[in-house]
Amino acid sequence: MSEIPAVAPREDAVETLIDRKALSGRISELGRELGGHYAKAEESPILVGVLKGSAFFLADLIRAMGIDVVVDFMSISAYSAGAQSGVVRIVKDLEEDLTDRDVLIVEDIVDTGLTLNYLRRTLGDRSPRSLQAVTLLDKLARRIVPVDLEYSGFETPDVFVIGYGLDFQGLYRNLPDILAVKDLARLANDPAMLASDLFHNKAPGSILAP
Ligand code: IMP
Repeated sequence: MSEIPAVAPREDAVETLIDRKALSGRISELGRELGGHYAKAEESPILVGVLKGSAFFLADLIRAMGIDVVVDFMSISAYSAGAQSGVVRIVKDLEEDLTDRDVLIVEDIVDTGLTLNYLRRTLGDRSPRSLQAVTLLDKLARRIVPVDLEYSGFETPDVFVIGYGLDFQGLYRNLPDILAVKDLARLANDPAMLASDLFHNKAPGSILAP
């Protein structure tokens, strides 16, 4: 069984920002903290994952929490008026009723804050007993609206990141480390350009090898 090496391909194009070991250590800490918090609750909390990026973080986080939880997912997209408008559309709504439940929003990254701001307002209107949010990454420097964020994994600089759920045009989510893209314009020109370096071993299933 071969371990996927921490990638250092095309050093001019990407660099490792947070490797899998650091991710796993911090997520275990967050899981313990959240597990301790919700262990005191009467009923299992409902964790709301925001598709698609946060599914990866959520899967590891709940296994570190050590308590029973309910998982639900929501998918939203920005209207064509632009991501900056803060106007979003629910593409897939929750299946769970949030009334009188402890709800935790699970985000992969909070950037401008518009998405989380919208989610907090929308889910807050559904009468939860409590509403909190956790994000793996917080790009605090890019915030354009203030938003409450109770738990955060890492504060990250103002760089575009891929891996561990985060994508560029739908690609790179299944990289095990979080990488910073150094030249976004170049990647935009050829979105798949990093694939052969990052998934260097093209054998089927190789990225999943322990
Ligand atoms: P917001 O700007 O806080 O509303 O974040 C909107 C969404 O933009 C996030 O949920 C991510 O899907 C995406 N996003 C923001 N920054 C990055 C990044 O560096 N890499 C990948 N996706 C990002």
